[in-house]
Amino acid sequence: MVSEKMQEALNGQLNAELYSAYLYLAMAAYYEDTDLPGFANWMRIQAQEELTHGMKFYDYLIQRGSRVILNTIEKPQKEWDSPLAVSEHVLNHEKKVTGLINELVNLAVNEKDHATNNFLQWFVAEQVEEEESAGGVLQKVRLASDSASGLLMVDSELAKRVFNAPSAE
Ligand code: FEO
Repeated sequence: MVSEKMQEALNGQLNAELYSAYLYLAMAAYYEDTDLPGFANWMRIQAQEELTHGMKFYDYLIQRGSRVILNTIEKPQKEWDSPLAVSEHVLNHEKKVTGLINELVNLAVNEKDHATNNFLQWFVAEQVEEEESAGGVLQKVRLASDSASGLLMVDSELAKRVFNAPSAE
């Protein structure tokens, strides 16, 4: 069992991961509405990944004999000015999540909760990939944003993304 404080923090992160899924689904809907199905596909898969992240926290809490507590998920924003604005938002959001994971690790270290620290290390590595991948899309959109044909090329590329369920590690 983890401490009460840790249980609360892990439940908070479960909520944050589910919010990320919700936010990315809102971005997918925005892209569907702007006729960029490849971007929408990328965001949908991003949302699926966030659900698996949330479930990792869910399952870990259960595994430790702690209580899963589901709180209200904040309503995500509905509109963005451009694909560039969405892509910047994704990267900034991932940086924010990295900060939340780091805070959780700090708490685990302070509490000498080595098991939770070990569990969180998967997320530490995952956030490096998340920032890299969000930064990669942003870079492509920046290069293409002045040209409709450039944006359509990026859209075709993002259409190829497929969902790979993360390993159980
Ligand atoms: Fe769950 Fe995109 O971090």
